[in-house]
Amino acid sequence: MREFFHRKLERNAIGFVLAIILVSGIGGFVEIAPLFTIHETVEDAPDMRVYTPLELAGRNIYTREGCYACHSQMIRTLRDEVERYGPYSLAVESKYDHPMLWGSKRTGPDIARLGGKYSDAWHVAHLINPRDVVPQSVMPKYGWLMRNELKTDDLGKHLAAQRAVGVPYTDAMIANASADAYGQASPDSPYASGLSERYGEATNVRAFDGEPGRLTEMDAVVAYLQILGRLTDAAHRQAAAAGK
Ligand code: HEC
Repeated sequence: MREFFHRKLERNAIGFVLAIILVSGIGGFVEIAPLFTIHETVEDAPDMRVYTPLELAGRNIYTREGCYACHSQMIRTLRDEVERYGPYSLAVESKYDHPMLWGSKRTGPDIARLGGKYSDAWHVAHLINPRDVVPQSVMPKYGWLMRNELKTDDLGKHLAAQRAVGVPYTDAMIANASADAYGQASPDSPYASGLSERYGEATNVRAFDGEPGRLTEMDAVVAYLQILGRLTDAAHRQAAAAGK
């Protein structure tokens, strides 16, 4: 009987097209419906800050090198994940991530809450040769990050592109992007003070790669790794309120 109905339906072109539209319409609605309540779903984080130009440059290199192919940046709500990595990731924490780097493949550990876990020197040694600090590691070496000077002349454009998709960078941040990138890795330079003015006192300002005179891709990547999970306290606040 059912076979007979299907044979009839498949031979009726218009009827079949309408049936396809109806079925995919239901599927589409199920996908779109949660977005109607997105303003209630995404948590509030008034303390959320934006990536500095140096951190954003590090994020771009992280994407360029394909680090996301082995590292996720999304802690799931499961107990073993929360015990290993810390409070589970909130939607608001990737509010300014364009594109997002959540991922699901974990050859290495999740790094959503990596910021502050290790020293800068540990990251530098680990990226140059992971086996020097974690003997059993299968992570590739990224020694060229230390040799490559960071390209900063296009950072203003990167900030402007992020602003176009909703990140609240100001005109002053865009105009000073290159100088701010330099200042964040050179604490003794005259550029460092403007940085905390624009991005807040809590901004990490130091020679991330251990060499204050040079601005390398290593500076950018380490600055980025050290801010992961630290743009807002929202997740820690929520976990504390839940008594966990
Ligand atoms: C082929 C897979 C692979 C790629 C690609 C990769 N990693 Fe890893 N990563 C690992 C593995 C495996 C570990 C665990 C062993 C270790 O600590 O070296 C790890 C560990 C780490 C850790 C330490 C995390 C912790 O909490 O202990 C950091 C930081 C890290 N990787 C950063 C990066 C960055 C940055 C890149 C890109 C430049 C990258 N990884 C690319 C596999 C990878």
